[in-house]
Formats: sequence, structure tokens, C-alpha cells
Amino acid sequence: MQLLPEYRDDVPRVERFTWLARFTHWGHTVTFLLCLFTGLILFLDSVDWLAFIFGGYYGAGWVHRISGLAMTAVIGFGFIFGFRGVLLWIVDLLRFGFNDLKFLVLFPLEFFGFKVNIPPQTRFNGGEKGNSMITPLMVFLLMISGYIMWFPSYFPAGLVRIAYPTHDLAMIFATVMVCMHAYLGSFHPGSGESFWGMWKGTVREDWAKHHHAIWYEETYGKLAGEKPKTVLGLPVFEQYDSKPKEAE
Ligand code: HEM
Ligand code: HEM
Repeated sequence: MQLLPEYRDDVPRVERFTWLARFTHWGHTVTFLLCLFTGLILFLDSVDWLAFIFGGYYGAGWVHRISGLAMTAVIGFGFIFGFRGVLLWIVDLLRFGFNDLKFLVLFPLEFFGFKVNIPPQTRFNGGEKGNSMITPLMVFLLMISGYIMWFPSYFPAGLVRIAYPTHDLAMIFATVMVCMHAYLGSFHPGSGESFWGMWKGTVREDWAKHHHAIWYEETYGKLAGEKPKTVLGLPVFEQYDSKPKEAE
């Protein structure tokens, strides 16, 4: 059984993610998962059996803190050196419109096997825009509350008290999001090509046209030559709410 689509270099491909975006993404994925597994050892008695891998509870506590530091460093590195990329990501999120709402309604139907017409999407589809807002916010809360729990003597007692439930709740939300996201960004039939975008940097051109038609047209297609209006040096694209594209 083949879980991921084959990586094809004999067909036209277009760049989707720079090496910096990929380094940051996989760097925070590895450190997030280390934090999650070691955190679960501290959180749930039922995962005690995992403790021996990290050298018991004491070891798990240290792997947790060091992975948290590494996650902060990787995200900070990506944010500083890829600042323009982060701004372009935010510009895309601000384009959230009817096409994204339609995506959010229609995608679950498609997921369960119904045939639907998903309208053309920008660089990130409606679901990815949602993920881009919720997951980083949860990771931010995990980092802030984590440092407060680590160094309680530097913070007011009230803040330390709310840091614990904040850390636990953010962990639960982030984990649910990451589970759905990891499946949709890899093994889910049809979207698996996006994995190669995040792994190798490029996606098949036909896949880009089909899944992110607006992004494709603006970046590589007919609209690529047209300079969009800019504000503070960042492009301001038109809000598309075009007719649904025929599902292929
Ligand atoms: C900068 C990032 C992070 C820092 C500094 C941090 C720090 C901490 C600290 C100091 C503790 C208390 C440990 C102890 O009692 O020995 C803790 C607990 C925990 N952390 Fe983190 N953490 C971070 C990120 C994460 C992430 C990403 C997750 C999961 C996705 C996570 C999940 C947990 C869990 C489940 C616990 C146990 C909470 C409990 O027992 O109520 N942490 N963390
Ligand atoms: C565990 C395995 C993971 C896999 C297989 C995976 C896969 C992917 C892929 C393929 C993309 C690009 C999607 C596109 O073409 O636009 C992506 C984007 C992204 N990933 Fe991951 N990812 C994983 C873990 C994580 C984790 C742990 C986080 C954060 C804690 C995360 C946060 C994001 C965000 C915010 C984006 C941009 C928005 C989006 O496309 O949903 N990912 N991921």
C-alpha cells in the first residue's frame, strides 16, 4: 500500500516553500513532538511506560525543557531570517473570504466521499488558513506558559497559577490540530503532494493549478507578470470569489 504519492521529477514542478520555511517547519515539528511525548509522561499516568526512553521522569522533564528551548530557537530563527515570508503568509491569511468559507463547508463533505466543487484557493486554502491561525497561537501560549512554569520565581503567583491550565489546554488544542494537519498534509488521498512541497520545496504544476488555482495564476500563471498594488512593500491582491471550479 502506497501512503504518499510518488515524487515525480519527470513532470513540471513549481516552488512552494523555500529551504528556510522547510527547515523551520520540520525543526518545530521534531521539537514539538518531543515536547508532546515528554509532556504526556508528566501529564498522564497511562503513558508512564514511555518514561524509560527519556531516562525516567527526571530525564523527561529535562528533554521537555531543552526541546522547548530548541523549538523557541528554531521558530525565532525562521521568524527573523524569513520575516518577509512571514509577512506574506499573514497577507494571505488576510485574504480570508467566501472561497475559504466555502472550502471549510465543502471539504468535510469531500473528505467523507461526496463529490463537491471546491472553489479556487489562494496560497493557503480555507483549512490551512484556519490552521495557520490556531496552531501558532497555541504554540505561542505553550511557550509563554512553559517559561512561566519553568521559572516561577520571576513571575507573579497569579500568573504561575494560570500558566498550568493554559499549558494543558493549549497542549490539547494544538495536539488535536496537529493530528488532523499531519494526516491532511501527508497520507490524505489528493493532498499528499503538499508533503513534497514541504519536504523537497516543489509541487507538481498540475496539482498546484488544481489545489491552489489563484496562487498558481498569480505566481506562475497569466497574472504572474501583473504587478499587484503594494502597501509597505507587500502585495495587496484582489479578493477573488470566482465561480466554483469543476472538481476533477
Ligand atoms: C517553550 C516550550 C515549552 C516549555 C518551556 C515548557 C515547559 C514546561 C514545564 C516547565 C513543565 C512542568 C514540568 C514539570 O512539572 O516537571 C511542562 C509541563 C508540560 N508540558 Fe510543556 N513546555 C513547552 C512546550 C510544550 C509543548 C509544545 C507541549 C505539547 C504539545 C507541552 C506539553 C506539556 C505537558 C502535557 C506538561 C505536563 C503538564 C501537567 O503535568 O499538568 N509543553 N512544560
Ligand atoms: C507531524 C507531521 C507534520 C506533517 C506531515 C506536516 C505537513 C505539512 C505540510 C505538507 C504543509 C504544507 C501545506 C501546504 O502545501 O500549504 C504544512 C504546513 C504547515 N504546518 Fe505542518 N506538518 C506536520 C507537523 C506540524 C506541526 C507539529 C506544526 C505546528 C506545531 C505544523 C504547523 C504547520 C503550519 C502552521 C503550516 C502552514 C499552514 C498549513 O499549510 O496548514 N505542522 N505542514
